[in-house]
Amino acid sequence: MEQLDWKTLPFGYIKTDYNIRCRYKDGKWGKPEVSSSEYIDIHIAATGLHYGQEAFEGMKAYMGKDSKIRVFRWDENAKRLMLSAEGVKMAPVPIELFRDAVFQAIKLNKKFVPPYGSGASLYIRPLLYGSSAEVGVKPASEYTFIVFVTPVGPYFKGGVKPVNMMICRDVDRAAPLGTGTFKVGGNYAASLRALVKAKEAGFGSTIFLDAREKKYIDECGPANFFGIKDNTYITPKSESILSSITNKSLIEIAKSLGMKTERRRIPVEELSTFEETGACGTAAVISPIAKIVDADVNKIYEYCKDGMPGAVTMKLYNKLVGIQNGDVKDEFGWMTVVD
Ligand code: PLP
Ligand code: COI
Repeated sequence: MEQLDWKTLPFGYIKTDYNIRCRYKDGKWGKPEVSSSEYIDIHIAATGLHYGQEAFEGMKAYMGKDSKIRVFRWDENAKRLMLSAEGVKMAPVPIELFRDAVFQAIKLNKKFVPPYGSGASLYIRPLLYGSSAEVGVKPASEYTFIVFVTPVGPYFKGGVKPVNMMICRDVDRAAPLGTGTFKVGGNYAASLRALVKAKEAGFGSTIFLDAREKKYIDECGPANFFGIKDNTYITPKSESILSSITNKSLIEIAKSLGMKTERRRIPVEELSTFEETGACGTAAVISPIAKIVDADVNKIYEYCKDGMPGAVTMKLYNKLVGIQNGDVKDEFGWMTVVD
């Protein structure tokens, strides 16, 4: 393997040695198989290609100072993939199959787990799609589950460097009774028009508002939103956002640090009252927000005026990342060591 520069890794795809594949056929899952190919053979009429019968997960493994590899809350990702599968009527992946495939993929690609202290980690991407042929709109009878891994650096350039976000008022990524709570590919396709526009205008990402009224904060592209004020961690309650495992964990961490927490609707105007804001997710970790621009109504909300992340954001970040790297006691029992 050509030597990777761990410290400058982007959030992108790097080929690793092996991936795991498993097929669902005749009403049952087969045995997971190891593959060294990066390609799949797929039926030209597979529902995963035509009708968006597809869901995925994103999780990370971290190398500790003690040379142990730890995986963060994999069981939550397993449960969410089951929820997403039901959301688009696919065969669910049993928790044990999910676990075995994920841990085997990590073990077989150990040399790609970035070293302790590099700021990079091993991103794990479980993927499920309808693989049998249908031309009418209906669920497939066969499914394929794949787990691949790839070493990654920070999602937003600069790691914990604050990013600027643009509020999007002309695109919805998901409808209130749609698929926003599921991690299905269609939501990401629906977000691209807004994302490309935000990137072209120089922003790190876009902030979606609730699709029904356009009054409340939904989420930040591929991450949840949070705001901090009066020693309180506040995050949106919405029927169209992904239930972020990072966000759920930050709520627990905030409580452990003596903060209050609220999950409720956040009106856009409330942005002017926050002391700090940020985006959180597996890829985003915690990305502090420097500035939120709501161009359609001529409003700019500014945080981190000195260019530095806020103190509360950093406290949350240090505890989360400390637990993930194995530096801080895992008081919540979130980490699983890969043996
Ligand atoms: N929201 C969206 C749309 C996402 O794609 C992600 C990433 O998984 C998140 C939020 C954050 O979720 P998690 O913390 O579980 O990674
Ligand atoms: C993640 O945080 O794992 C995501 O899925 C975000 C993204 C790259 C789609």
